[in-house]
Amino acid sequence: MKLTSLPSKRETIRQNMIHVRDRTLELFTDCTREEFCQQAHPDFSPVGWHLGHIALTESLWILEHCAGEAPLFPEYRQLLTADGLRKEERQNLPSFSVIQDYLETVRNRVFKYLEIAPIAQQERLLYWLLQHENQHNETIVFLLQLLRWKKLQEFSPLQRRDRPSSPSSFNTNISDAMVTISAGEFLMGNNNIEAQDNERPEHLVYLDTYQIDRFPVTCQQYQEFMAAGGYQKAEFWSKMGWQWLQKNPVVQPLYWRDSPDWKEHPVCGVSYYEAEAYATFTGKRLPTEAEWEKAASWDAKIGEKLLYPWGNNAPNSQYCNYNTFIGHTTPVNLYINGQSPWGCWDMMGNVWEWTSSLFSGYNGFEFYPYRGYSQVYVDNKHRVLRGGSWATHPWSFRASFRNWYHPWVRQILVGFRCAM
Ligand SMILES: [Fe+2]
Repeated sequence: MKLTSLPSKRETIRQNMIHVRDRTLELFTDCTREEFCQQAHPDFSPVGWHLGHIALTESLWILEHCAGEAPLFPEYRQLLTADGLRKEERQNLPSFSVIQDYLETVRNRVFKYLEIAPIAQQERLLYWLLQHENQHNETIVFLLQLLRWKKLQEFSPLQRRDRPSSPSSFNTNISDAMVTISAGEFLMGNNNIEAQDNERPEHLVYLDTYQIDRFPVTCQQYQEFMAAGGYQKAEFWSKMGWQWLQKNPVVQPLYWRDSPDWKEHPVCGVSYYEAEAYATFTGKRLPTEAEWEKAASWDAKIGEKLLYPWGNNAPNSQYCNYNTFIGHTTPVNLYINGQSPWGCWDMMGNVWEWTSSLFSGYNGFEFYPYRGYSQVYVDNKHRVLRGGSWATHPWSFRASFRNWYHPWVRQILVGFRCAM
């Protein structure tokens, strides 16, 4: 082992920042001015806003908070901060090239500062920033998909050119089979340097025996719910869910494709209410996030927590569909090597999965780096999603990672699996 761990950490962070930024900018390759400024949905800001917000956040946390510099381009503050203008007021944006200059100016200064920065003290913040950019990155991906969904059914502009070869195996039958998870304690959460405030602290949780679906719910399975009048019968829906459906009369998932080669893909683009109604239709329920995490990452044979369902190896395209490598969902039985110790498939990547848990802090929660990152969402209104999607980047991708949305949101890359 070399004794140069400090400079190499500095260089590793620099390289990761460059890599993440390349991926961010790549998403804008074919983005028109109209797409750049337009709201794809009233609940979300335009993609151009997300790009500018990435620069503002980096400038605020590294240049102002760490380096103690004066605000760079203070005129952007109100427009690009998360608690500035209302979402519908965020459409009057500078051009892509102006925002690109802004990103570059901030980044050059950040790199200059990082040459002398006390890396050990700021490592956690730098990881947080990488994840922050990754998360806005995924938002940009699904907002562009939302804007282009009709066209996307004919061809996939978001498909990456350097698509890796498909995994070799594709032979397991998808069934309604469930996996039994035996009673006992498991380690929930994550204390690693890259873990977010809401993943901490790691703690033991006891769960009774339960069953969980081997696969995420597929389009073919969901079709049965639709054919049985699932969207017309109140009996399957919770009171809140039925009220939502009356105000938002949808009849199928948002990202629904009616084609035979799509039936083994997971359902994508459903609200929590739709997932809940489907579970009731099949006599099941949604898993809690603890049930999801145990099934995804607890190796009971050795009594150890894994970073990913398949073990502790970094994700790659033999394990799962992630990182926008493929650009859309894949069949739920594609990744034989990605199974969890319990034999659950496709828990990471492909689609986020709704859980029945309301978002809250674990016992001993301490916000980081500011209250607004996750603590303000502990309001008994947001449900937890787990597992990441085909567009989730490595920095936000691990079995302990928690995402949260209002139960009516269906624009994200989300499906679900059921439990009993
Ligand atoms: Fe943000």
